[in-house]
Amino acid sequence: MLEKIKQTADFLRAQAKGEMPKLAIILGTGLGNLVEHIEDKQYIPYSEIPNFPVSTVQGHSGNLIFGTMGGKRVIAMQGRFHYYEGYDMKTVTFPVRVFKELGVETLFVSNAAGGMNKEFVVGDVMVITDHINLFPENPLRGKNYEELGPRFPAMTEPYDKKLVALADSIAAEKGLRLMHGVYVGTTGPTFETPAEYEYFRVIGGDAVGMSTVPEVIVARHADMRVFGISVITDLGGKDITEVPSHEEVQKAAIKAQPTVEAIVKSMVERC
Ligand code: HPA
Repeated sequence: MLEKIKQTADFLRAQAKGEMPKLAIILGTGLGNLVEHIEDKQYIPYSEIPNFPVSTVQGHSGNLIFGTMGGKRVIAMQGRFHYYEGYDMKTVTFPVRVFKELGVETLFVSNAAGGMNKEFVVGDVMVITDHINLFPENPLRGKNYEELGPRFPAMTEPYDKKLVALADSIAAEKGLRLMHGVYVGTTGPTFETPAEYEYFRVIGGDAVGMSTVPEVIVARHADMRVFGISVITDLGGKDITEVPSHEEVQKAAIKAQPTVEAIVKSMVERC
């Protein structure tokens, strides 16, 4: 694995025009428009990157993008690898390990999620303050490479508190509604049953989705600072009868995009 990480990082270093970014952004479902805020873009299709798998889901284009946002060099993933697609955890999280090898210090992750918190409405944007890992596997299971991080990493502050506070102050300045919450990560690809949404709420979740947790675990293992943001694309629970679909999720995510864009762009400028 260490060999593969180095090989991919070497390839990207050789390809990238310009300085290596210290910030990486993973663009989730329907949030791909954030790329329009990246200047001087250099696209590298996943299919050209050694050891990178190719994403298969509708709405995920599959490019690594080097560029500049708010005056800072960034590297963005347009499309991520989901566990439900059949990739194993090492593959899902491989790009994060490559980012670390490239010198990335801060990771921004975004996703679409179903809301269980009764105060949420569709189109809300939620800053992730913590998560619950309900994937059947931890991406760090197996041999630990001390070069990448410790055997038993703490998860006391999975999402950087200073970055959460920065997001809050930007939202207040701009008069944007910004929620806080705990993200529950599950495998999918089924959306939840009413009882499952209730269960996730009862155990402390505010939103549920099919990504993010594996990447965040690997980023924290490598001591990267993490900021996470969810767009609430549907609501679930025992009193909710609307049926979520991939199309609805994408539509709602696009609606929330201006808020996500405003917050992420200002944060990149200031962090
Ligand atoms: N559940 C799981 N994943 C999701 C949902 C949901 O309701 N909405 C968007 N991604």
